[in-house]
Amino acid sequence: MNFDENTLTDAVLARMADCGDARLTQVMGALVRHLHGFIREVELTEAEWLAAIRFLTATGQKCDDKRQEFILLSDTLGVSMLVDAVNHRVPAGATESTVFGPFFVEGAPQLPQWADISGTAAGTPCFMSGTVTDVAGKPLAGATIDVWQSDGEAGLYDVQVPGGPMQCRARFTTDAQGRYAFRTVQPVSYPVPTDGPVGDLLLRLGRHPFRPAHIHTMIAHPGCATLVTHVFVAGDSYLSSDAVFGVKDSLVVDFKDHPPGMAPDGSRLERSFSTVSYDFVLAPA
Ligand SMILES: [Fe+2]
Repeated sequence: MNFDENTLTDAVLARMADCGDARLTQVMGALVRHLHGFIREVELTEAEWLAAIRFLTATGQKCDDKRQEFILLSDTLGVSMLVDAVNHRVPAGATESTVFGPFFVEGAPQLPQWADISGTAAGTPCFMSGTVTDVAGKPLAGATIDVWQSDGEAGLYDVQVPGGPMQCRARFTTDAQGRYAFRTVQPVSYPVPTDGPVGDLLLRLGRHPFRPAHIHTMIAHPGCATLVTHVFVAGDSYLSSDAVFGVKDSLVVDFKDHPPGMAPDGSRLERSFSTVSYDFVLAPA
């Protein structure tokens, strides 16, 4: 009792020191210390405290089974990339990871090599292929590759189009040589959703909401660490100012333009298209 601004933090820490879960004590203890430290540093006003409560409430209320405003908040504050960084210190030669993002959906179709995942999405046809190996260069057969991306024109994910079909997402399995290949549309840069409290905050902070064009991948193989990453389109004007801080040089690749003609899947295209190759290297588990 009689706690004041000098003694309150220690009192809260002491109250949960014996909870029986050492990790919970560590995590919550650090959270309380940093949160109290933050309030002391800025001398938070009561109006600001209430604004924060209202902001977090609105963030939760914006979430549903397709919209995850809290992941967006985490992404735009650099928290997601920091969590990724401290959890994935990969060995030299392994492909770097980046944010998971809010648009992954369970239950995407399992498709064969060179399947077209674009559905009704507009955009330049794009053929992506490559390999999955371990850090010793051994091809990994039977690795699963989940891919998901925006369309190639409006920059929308399928889940952002009410009533629209599931598209621009699929799961592939590497063949005996560790190869994967599929057809899609070349993704374009897009704004993260700005119609919620996180978007309002970005604009108040003088930040733009754009992410450079990318294809999401999640690659899993027994004995290897699951890799969650993106392949970014070289030349995109938002590479150096990604709203979620997700870009790494090693993930930026050339999408090569081609005139109408024979495509890598053996089909003949009447319009220009692009190709991209990326070889993923998985770190040991
Ligand atoms: Fe994305």
